[in-house]
Amino acid sequence: MSCFRFFLTFFVLSLLSLTTEAQNNPNYLYHICDNTTFIRNRTYQTNLNRLLSAFPNATAINGFYNTTSGEEPNRIYGFFLCRGDVLTTTCRNCVTFATGDVIQKCPVEKEAVIWYDECLLRYSNKSIFSTLSEMETKYLVGVQTDTDPIQFNEVQKVAMNDAVAQAVSVAKRFATKEANISRFRTLYGLVQCTPDLSSKDCDRCLRVAIGELPKCCFGRNGGRVLNPSCFFRFEIYPFYNGASAPPPTTVTTSPDSMVNPNGSKPRWIPIAASLSAVLGLALLSSFAFVIWRMRKSQEDKENSRKVQLLDLGGGNFVNEYSNENFHGERVGGSQEFPSIQLDIIHAATKHFCDENRLGEGGFGPVYKGTLTDGKEIAESCKTPGMLHGG
Ligand SMILES: *[C@@H]1O[C@H](CO)[C@@H](O)[C@H](O)[C@H]1NC(C)=O
Ligand SMILES: *[C@@H]1O[C@H](CO)[C@@H](O)[C@H](O)[C@H]1NC(C)=O
Ligand SMILES: *[C@@H]1O[C@H](CO)[C@@H](O)[C@H](O)[C@H]1NC(C)=O
Ligand SMILES: *[C@@H]1O[C@H](CO)[C@@H](O)[C@H](O)[C@H]1NC(C)=O
Ligand SMILES: *[C@@H]1O[C@H](CO)[C@@H](O)[C@H](O)[C@H]1NC(C)=O
Ligand SMILES: *[C@@H]1O[C@H](CO)[C@@H](O)[C@H](O)[C@H]1NC(C)=O
Repeated sequence: MSCFRFFLTFFVLSLLSLTTEAQNNPNYLYHICDNTTFIRNRTYQTNLNRLLSAFPNATAINGFYNTTSGEEPNRIYGFFLCRGDVLTTTCRNCVTFATGDVIQKCPVEKEAVIWYDECLLRYSNKSIFSTLSEMETKYLVGVQTDTDPIQFNEVQKVAMNDAVAQAVSVAKRFATKEANISRFRTLYGLVQCTPDLSSKDCDRCLRVAIGELPKCCFGRNGGRVLNPSCFFRFEIYPFYNGASAPPPTTVTTSPDSMVNPNGSKPRWIPIAASLSAVLGLALLSSFAFVIWRMRKSQEDKENSRKVQLLDLGGGNFVNEYSNENFHGERVGGSQEFPSIQLDIIHAATKHFCDENRLGEGGFGPVYKGTLTDGKEIAESCKTPGMLHGG
């Protein structure tokens, strides 16, 4: 049966393409280069190179590795953090890629932080260990709005709070959470802090970021929150290792529904029930299933890539991190680079921020908002690194 061979080949090929995909470059998300340059100071550069070259072979504990290089005033503090669920090889792959990528993106800066889906790398000339970052939090949110945003938000709030409570209680500072939005849809959430943070700081980092969700991302059914000290991600499809399979998206038809309008069972069923036809049907449906799965995962990926960058810290985003940070920058040339349209971001930021604008701070405008627990956001602007990293 040559047709069978064709399906087999097809199957093997699609499996192969899935496995090779896992070896690809990490999925770049965002980076920040501090604007204080080291003017190619030889000492600093040497220390930086030494720091970065130690990363790929370093033994991470709980996915985290921190070290310093050199002496004051040219000392560098650096760490990397891998997502809590990724394998050691994926972690190493991501970190190795990041060490090369970050110096291309921030060639002369003393401080930098770069995020990928699988890992995060950061260095600075200041001590950055065991302290909450003072950098602004970035929101990369899916462009799709959920079909039932109110229900989605309710489920999300409960699930994310559960995840935070779980994460702060373990040394790894990492937790995942699944929750049913409806019978056929599941929310998948992941939260993580750098494990050098105290559980109190981790809690604060995540809760302030999550508190922004109703404002930045109401009803959006996918997104990532990026802070150098903590991050989280939520999707309506499984995206981390160890996630349970998604619930069925189609309703199975009962045999009764095959009754034709006249009320009699369709006559073709017994006729078609020969062995070969059943075999053919099985092959055909598995073929259709494979196609469906591929298209589905492609769709999910497309959706996850269609993200907007929201910067709650200020409308100064467009000036501060201009196009050069986003376009044609990925050295690996991978298609996985999220395309982010600045005009959309600007519109979105404007849309949800203008009416809440309070005034200008050191970093740009300060916005007023209300956290889920009723606290005003303007107050939380003072907390390090969250809304307004002045
Ligand atoms: C760099 O930061 C300083 C303040 O820290 C600011 O005055 C200056 O405009 C910034 N430069 C650029 C190019 O953004
Ligand atoms: C590099 O840093 C050291 C220590 O701060 C300083 O003495 C030296 O002048 C700097 N070199 C340059 C080229 O800026
Ligand atoms: C890191 O490990 C690889 C392979 O194990 C080795 O080839 C390389 O020399 C090591 N690098 C350092 C800096 O130790
Ligand atoms: C890593 O961070 C911890 C926690 O702040 C700190 O105690 C330790 O000295 C750091 N390690 C290095 C090599 O700097
Ligand atoms: C880090 O570098 C900046 C810019 O050169 C400098 O102003 C600051 O004092 C340095 N911080 C430390 C702790 O060396
Ligand atoms: C979601 O619903 C399914 C049944 O529809 C159930 O088996 C599963 O335990 C639920 N998951 C959660 C996290 O509540």
